[in-house]
Amino acid sequence: MTAASIDEAKRFEMDEPPTSFPATQPDGSPLKPITRVLLERRATISFASDEVPDDVLETILRFGAQAPSGYNLQPWRFIVVRDRQNRERLQRVAFNQAKIGEAPVVIIGVGLKESWRKEAERIFREGARRGAGRLEEVEQRVAQAVKALEQERTDVWVTRQTAIALTTMMLVAEAYGFDTVLMEGFDAEGVRREFGLPPDAEVVGLLAIGRMRGEEKPYPGRLPLHEVVFKERFGEPWTEAKRSPERRIQQTDLPPGER
Ligand SMILES: Cc1cc2nc3c(=O)[nH]c(=O)nc-3n(C[C@H](O)[C@H](O)[C@H](O)COP(=O)(O)O)c2cc1C
Repeated sequence: MTAASIDEAKRFEMDEPPTSFPATQPDGSPLKPITRVLLERRATISFASDEVPDDVLETILRFGAQAPSGYNLQPWRFIVVRDRQNRERLQRVAFNQAKIGEAPVVIIGVGLKESWRKEAERIFREGARRGAGRLEEVEQRVAQAVKALEQERTDVWVTRQTAIALTTMMLVAEAYGFDTVLMEGFDAEGVRREFGLPPDAEVVGLLAIGRMRGEEKPYPGRLPLHEVVFKERFGEPWTEAKRSPERRIQQTDLPPGER
């Protein structure tokens, strides 16, 4: 680092967005576009032992940490579990789901229900130094956030934030050609005990990442859009858009059930 770049780095305490990351999947094929990421992802039933390369894992984590959060408070923390014995310990507190022991990487997503209070001023001050907000309003913004969040259930609030970051990681892993499953089947007290979580930690989810073993699970279907999307008011069915064929692409590279 030159003196100038050290000065530049010292200007801000927090990470910049990733500027350098693997340009392709590990086998050299291009990263999947977002449409394939979203359509090809399936919850993986069983994992092979193939590793996730360090630089891909780091990229998954870096992009996950770019997820949005309420007031930018980032109340999430992630424990990356790769050691076999630790994965087995995690499996035991996750209803013995075999995929946890099999997958080379499992990320424990945790939300901190209280620690954000200590971080709020630092985060708002840094945002203002970067031009997102005004320095003279930092104290007022902290007070507003604290007041607003005191009205919330903090377990729900941290779950909302941390789930978005875990989802981001899941989709980035898919873009790099890896298979994933996000899991809620665990005993939170067991995870707390085995992995040294602080008292205010809420265990939000486990994200296993690796390479699928065996057959991919069939697409299980989704409720019809008109049942889950309403127009303007709850209960008013969504009406499907008219399709203009000339502007559409066909995902012909997807299996028939998913086209
Ligand atoms: C929040 C969440 C929790 C889940 N928990 C588990 C789990 O504990 N074990 C498991 O095998 N799958 C789990 N899944 C995977 C779902 O069963 C799966 O996503 C769903 O059946 C739809 O299948 P698809 O993801 O292949 O489309 C979970 C998924 C989500 C989003």
